[in-house]
Amino acid sequence: MKQFALSMQSGGRSGFLPGKSTATWGINGAYLGPTLRASRGDRVRMRVTNRLGEASTLHWHGMRLPAKMDGGPHQMIEPGATWTPEWTVDQPAMTGWYHPHLHERTAMHVYRGLAGMIIIDDDREPDLPTGYGVDDVPLIIQDKNLERDGRLDEDSVEGGTWGVLGDSILVNGTYGARFNVTTQAVRLRILNASNARMYRVGFADNRVFHVVGTDGGLLERPAEVDRVKLSPGERAQIVVRFTPGEEIVLNSLGETAREAGDPEEDDFELLKFVAAPQLASSAALPSVLGGTPATAPPAGARVRTFRLSGSEINDREMDMTRIDEVVPAGAHEIWEIDNASYAHNFHIHEVEFRILQINGQTPPAYQRGPKDTVFIAKGAKARLAVKFNRYVDPVSPYMYHCHILRHEDKGMMGQFVVVEPGTEDRVPRTLRGHHG
Ligand code: C2O
Ligand code: CU
Ligand code: CU
Repeated sequence: MKQFALSMQSGGRSGFLPGKSTATWGINGAYLGPTLRASRGDRVRMRVTNRLGEASTLHWHGMRLPAKMDGGPHQMIEPGATWTPEWTVDQPAMTGWYHPHLHERTAMHVYRGLAGMIIIDDDREPDLPTGYGVDDVPLIIQDKNLERDGRLDEDSVEGGTWGVLGDSILVNGTYGARFNVTTQAVRLRILNASNARMYRVGFADNRVFHVVGTDGGLLERPAEVDRVKLSPGERAQIVVRFTPGEEIVLNSLGETAREAGDPEEDDFELLKFVAAPQLASSAALPSVLGGTPATAPPAGARVRTFRLSGSEINDREMDMTRIDEVVPAGAHEIWEIDNASYAHNFHIHEVEFRILQINGQTPPAYQRGPKDTVFIAKGAKARLAVKFNRYVDPVSPYMYHCHILRHEDKGMMGQFVVVEPGTEDRVPRTLRGHHG
């Protein structure tokens, strides 16, 4: 058994701006939380203690596990209480993350600093860089609005169409971050842990690099790109090569946050890489990564349609007592997401999905790996092949939702249960004993 003790705590002080102190929340520290690492086959137990002074939850985004362990809005942890979910890791190597998921107040809890990375290892991993913090490096990207005195401006978090769109970028909780490169190749595990902002990540010289993994695991083979788009909740694993002595900035370019905005307002430097005069040699990138190709759902697979408009899905807002979808265990379905309004994304708990089509087109190679979150531009349509697991529980729902946290909090979320095949019609659509 692998145990992790996590303390969600308020009252932290972080030094983001030089000489200024910022009040923040964190997990086992002032801001963000430790990287949790486990291997396929491990039994893991989390001991999550809430020391925030208000109720919250902790959700394991990207983990495949029983709904009761998922840490969604039904697994509230009261102030002072400890929640101890456990499960057996049964999924390929991937990069996940954890963050609060309480009904209507996720945005504020994440914005104040509650989030961390999860890394799942697997014996069958190809020869990629693995020195944690040396040539295998987590990059948690977030945008904040920082006042001149250092305070976190929270005014916009629970308002407006997008909630917060910050103008200060933090990488791993650091403003103006630098990374000292000591090897020729570095794997970056990039996580967009921002409330609403999308990034179009690349290097200042537009060098090519390789995407090796998507949200839920590795690609079949490396995909060569010069930019990667990440909406909130999405991850990409990339491998990039450096030359001795160079300095190069990782940035986000050409991604407009508000549809009508001045594009350059949304260009940001994320991180500066400073390469040592001599770099330790790195293995060549394997040509095959071991990720499995997308398989098409069987003929006659169930198709479910989700129409996004404003902050509603299929014209309804989230209701904690309503089961929206009932899915038979082990199903392989088509989910069609049809966005009738401004930009959203769509995250499904527990599952692995593949993007079959975006607006009728096959997605670029770098987005063809296992996913759990997909960006859906204004007016766009996505067709997903979704694989469900076999953790049957007719009274504990999983969530699907827009991961723009303002939208999620406003109710752009639905609930599904996974049930024994053949029992779908008998499953109650209303959860009793829940208030709102
Ligand atoms: Cu990142 Cu429903 O979660
Ligand atoms: Cu999730
Ligand atoms: Cu949205």
